[in-house]
Amino acid sequence: VALKLNLPRTIEYSEGRVRLINQLLLPDRLEYIETKDWRRVAEAIKKMEIRGAPAIGVAAAMALALAARSLSPMPLEKALSYMRDVAEKVKSTRPTAVNLFWAVDRVMAAISKAGNVEELVELAEKEAIKIWREDEECNRRIGEIGERLIGDGDTVMTICNAGSLATSYYGTATAPIYKAVEKGKKVRVIALETRPYLQGARLTAWELSRAGIEVYVITDNQMGIVAQRENVSLIIVGADRITRTGYVANKIGTYPLSLVAKDLGIPFYVAAPTSTIDLKAEGPEDFEIERRPSEELLYIYGKRIAPEGVEAIYYAFDITPPKLISGIITEKGIAYPPFPKSIPRIVEGED
Ligand code: MRU
Repeated sequence: VALKLNLPRTIEYSEGRVRLINQLLLPDRLEYIETKDWRRVAEAIKKMEIRGAPAIGVAAAMALALAARSLSPMPLEKALSYMRDVAEKVKSTRPTAVNLFWAVDRVMAAISKAGNVEELVELAEKEAIKIWREDEECNRRIGEIGERLIGDGDTVMTICNAGSLATSYYGTATAPIYKAVEKGKKVRVIALETRPYLQGARLTAWELSRAGIEVYVITDNQMGIVAQRENVSLIIVGADRITRTGYVANKIGTYPLSLVAKDLGIPFYVAAPTSTIDLKAEGPEDFEIERRPSEELLYIYGKRIAPEGVEAIYYAFDITPPKLISGIITEKGIAYPPFPKSIPRIVEGED
């Protein structure tokens, strides 16, 4: 059966307007946010109306393009200083996914070459569109490269949503799955629900089932027994930041999943574009792990689930050490251990 992805575009840019899916409403309603205001895009990142490392990066670049478009005639130096201020505000929306910082820095580097304000606007827009298009292309490549790891009849386990909704299109962890199905392989997917935001249950299950792929949702705490009993052939997860030495920050629950994989001898792969690799970060202490408000964990659809007066601890991401990772699938190839060697090489494109 040929695959019909049947997926709407996560985020689009056209003539000074950004349109993005409001992911907080899925799977109940498919609704879009449309805006010409960069502040609204920044707010969408902060509120997680758009989320997933590559999608956040694309949204941030588009926010800068909108900010540039809103500039009235003024001296170039004044415009650049305004843009630097916008860049800082956009960067402050979420701390862990490095794609956000990478995309903002790329647009800022592009506009630094402007000779006047009109040129600045043009360069900002061009770079944002380039980042958006490149992301889709990277995922397509990740799909082609990663597909070879999936056999006909395999069961693949994943966490959170590193799917099309987390990127411009195809997704990272889902791209090899989509590609394998496109090639006629039968693939069964087990999606961890991913408390407390439920990206697995709400988003991954939504997009895979829309594409006609057999998908099951499990609670996060079933990961051990399901990996033991359900013939899991492979685990593929996304990443929010990968350090030079191969530490992977990803959605909370990824690290315990990698331990289960190691114990059971299940291959554990990370799929991410090289824009998720932070060569400046050496180890797990070199960047921030987002902590979100206690309420997001203590309330389910408005209902409190723990006694009043009790606080929660809520880390939104965890860190998987390189020793638990079989390989990192990027658009430039798969990096294998030892990662301190293979990661810098793959980023520089020598592989
Ligand atoms: O908090 P989120 O939903 O932005 O977290 C998303 C993840 O952890 C994804 O796995 C990661 O960003 C990779 S997305 C291709």
